[in-house]
Amino acid sequence: MNKQPVLDVRGLHKTFTLHLREGLRLPVLNAVSLTVARGECLALVGPSGQGKSTLMKCLYGSYGADGGQLLVNTADGATLDLVQAAPQQVIALRRRALAFVSQFLRVLPRVSALEVVAERAISAGETDEQLAREQAAELLARLNLPQGLWGLPPATFSGGEQQRVNIARGFIAPAELLLLDEPTASLDAMNRRVVIELIEEAKAAGTAIVGIFHDEEVRDAVASRCHTMGAPTPAETHKEAA
Ligand SMILES: Nc1ncnc2c1ncn2[C@@H]1O[C@H](COP(=O)(O)OP(=O)(O)O)[C@@H](O)[C@H]1O
Ligand SMILES: [Mg+2]
Repeated sequence: MNKQPVLDVRGLHKTFTLHLREGLRLPVLNAVSLTVARGECLALVGPSGQGKSTLMKCLYGSYGADGGQLLVNTADGATLDLVQAAPQQVIALRRRALAFVSQFLRVLPRVSALEVVAERAISAGETDEQLAREQAAELLARLNLPQGLWGLPPATFSGGEQQRVNIARGFIAPAELLLLDEPTASLDAMNRRVVIELIEEAKAAGTAIVGIFHDEEVRDAVASRCHTMGAPTPAETHKEAA
């Protein structure tokens, strides 16, 4: 078994340059370093505007960084530095190892909720299409999405309904690294509990998770450790053993 952490972030820097505001520079990530091992859930904490979502987008390869390393060590023994990786390498890594439950669902028009969820499992190449659809239906049922909605495109769904489609998509295929940006923000208590269960199952299966959890109850339930954004180093606090 690979003993390296799945995620190894070293001295990550990112500055936004606001071209519409005379090139104003906004340093957002200032030497962020953290690691996440298999089966661990690291919670990013800190006030709004500290770069939590920006870090998530860097971890998914959506944003570039200005310096440092963002190493993803996969079970096949390969290491990819997302700061240096070519777009094709990022896409290939996403397909086989990464999942991202973003704050907002981005979907193609006319694609049904069931297909949006099944598609991730199909593109990961681990299941045939029929099985992927069955797994998608199982997850949508578990998340209490009314069956009448499964065949409809999620564009007109409520915030909580869209979020559950997004969650089902993130959890349908096992990922080595799972990124969760406020996954329970618009969910009721019953569905928050389902998400906590899904996170615990993913940890037990060995997935490394980085999450932003506004809801302290959810964070306390799932986080193995917290990393405070924007704080002077050392920024990691260890959760006391219960
Ligand atoms: N694409 C962007 N372009 C310019 N500034 C951005 C962009 N995304 C985020 N920011 C700024 O970076 C800072 C951190 O934002 P964000 O990562 O969303 O923080 P958090 O998730 O911790 O609330 C904020 O000041 C925000 O305005
Ligand atoms: Mg955010």
